Amino acid sequence: MKIALTINGGDAVLDVAPRTTLADCLRHDLGLTGTHLACEQGVCGSCTVIVDGAAVRGCLVLAVQADGAEIVTVEGLADGDALSPLQDAFRRHHALQCGFCTAGILTTLHALLTENPDAEADEIRHVLSGNICRCTGYIPIVEAALDARAAYRARRDAAGGDPIRPPGGISGPS
Ligand code: FES
Ligand code: FES
Repeated sequence: MKIALTINGGDAVLDVAPRTTLADCLRHDLGLTGTHLACEQGVCGSCTVIVDGAAVRGCLVLAVQADGAEIVTVEGLADGDALSPLQDAFRRHHALQCGFCTAGILTTLHALLTENPDAEADEIRHVLSGNICRCTGYIPIVEAALDARAAYRARRDAAGGDPIRPPGGISGPS
């Protein structure tokens, strides 16, 4: 089946088998291997990508279901070689070790903070409850998310108070 996607701000038209998951489509058809697969049954959150502003499990969505959608993957967060404020906060807070879970955690938090840059630790922990990290521990991840809120607030304020939907990374506060 032919589908059209907007991915990280660019357009893509693909022929996919109806049974192809969105995660497999991203990884195998588009080469966006930053989206990871682990459990492949909706439990671990490694495959999380943003579809029309919402964090979703790429292993549970068929590519054909995403036809016409705007998708942001972890590759869409940075601005060229410059880390996004959220990625930079992860680096400064040592919020990753092996990094396998990190793409899914970054996209989960990017969706949350885009929607609500004032999210408190409880809300951040709540959304992270769907992402399994086996080696870092969640304290630095939550601290990084709290730290990154200022950049998302600045972006919201620059847009006149409206949350800005993905696609695309964001720049830090100037
Ligand atoms: Fe999709 Fe685990 S690989 S939730
Ligand atoms: Fe290793 Fe999360 S950084 S699983």
